[in-house]
Amino acid sequence: MTASGEASGTRVASFPAGFLWGAATSSHQVEGDSRWNDWWPHERAGRLPHASAEACRHYELYEADFDMARSWGHNAHRFSIAWSRIEPREGHWDEAATAHYQDVVDALLSRGIEPIVTLHHFTNPAWFADRGGWARRDSADLFCRYVERVASSIRGVRYWITINEPTVYAKHGFVVGDWPPFRRNAWLGAARALRGMARAHARAYEILRRLGPESRVGFAHSAPWIEPCDRSRVGDRGAAYLRDLLLNRAFLALIDPPRRHPRRLDFLGINYYARTIVRRRKMLAPPWGEECLSAHHLDRGPFSDTGWEVYPPGLLAILEKFSRLGLPLMITENGVATGDENLRSAFLREHLAAVGHALERDIDVIGYLYWSLIDNYEWGLGTTARFGLAAVDFETQRRTARPAAMEYASVCRDNRLALPAPGRPLSVRTA
Ligand code: FCB
Repeated sequence: MTASGEASGTRVASFPAGFLWGAATSSHQVEGDSRWNDWWPHERAGRLPHASAEACRHYELYEADFDMARSWGHNAHRFSIAWSRIEPREGHWDEAATAHYQDVVDALLSRGIEPIVTLHHFTNPAWFADRGGWARRDSADLFCRYVERVASSIRGVRYWITINEPTVYAKHGFVVGDWPPFRRNAWLGAARALRGMARAHARAYEILRRLGPESRVGFAHSAPWIEPCDRSRVGDRGAAYLRDLLLNRAFLALIDPPRRHPRRLDFLGINYYARTIVRRRKMLAPPWGEECLSAHHLDRGPFSDTGWEVYPPGLLAILEKFSRLGLPLMITENGVATGDENLRSAFLREHLAAVGHALERDIDVIGYLYWSLIDNYEWGLGTTARFGLAAVDFETQRRTARPAAMEYASVCRDNRLALPAPGRPLSVRTA
């Protein structure tokens, strides 16, 4: 990246040629009518507080949504394929669903948008869940049959993301117990699921590279920035260390044990949203230590509608932390749920500045994908959490661009961005 001085004191950062700019979605959150997956029956039975129902009807409306992305200068788009559509019953392959996703890939390519395809984003086929899901011994075998099928039939994908946020899946499904399979404090189940996903990633990596030697394969890592509440307290420091080990480091160690295997990651996807502050007392209790009463953190916030702290310096810190792996980093999710459009714009501006600063420090960031292209079904929160660059009216399915979408569009089109002066702390300014 090059940065040039400007009279006003701000500098303009030019991003590397080919930098990937875009937004992300996932199948269950936008497609609608996800009747073959494991969330659907629980949504209908009222075991989950909200139902995805027709969601954003993106399964039909994807072309119009991609026209919008193209009009905003996006050159990349992350979406997920629903395993439950490709294999709705065990061993039964739905050719029409495969053809649909080929059309989705082609629709992106014909608009000059690079498809970045996730193979697993939280939901599973219902039959797989009924047979014990990720805690089963042969979960990786079952998943990899689907990966082989997709990779041998869908053409034109250069970037694959095997699994989205394994640790978040394990936390909600097996520890907090608010997502399928609704197990609470089932730490052994969580460990089994993570082991299954790690095996699945490693084997999917081999399959995807064998069938597409030019393709690049990673997974999307939920990477919160974790700090102790009170640095002078050994207990808080220990709690932060442990949390970082569990959330930020353990899964990577499972798929990439040091010196034991050739590397099975071509890039690492970073999903960054917020800072987490940890106290010893709250270490293992949901919601996992989001409390702080120390003088070190009097300046916390602002907070989003999901209660997450908007903390742009955390993105730079996370990029620095993971740059030590020596892999290209792709920001596969970063966004905010808010009804305050000044906050959304400030969030985007400040996090993009953090990416600019990371590139200045020679950190190899290859792309930035805002979460999300459109408002959608936000898991346990339904459609109340509004993350979209475009607002969605769920009655009419009308999309309306938000101001942040237009500001982001000029960054994507110009491949440039105004950076705050060096050394100036990043801060969120709301007008
Ligand atoms: C991430 C998920 C994504 C979305 C955002 C807000 O953890 O990967 O699907 O829900 O959070």
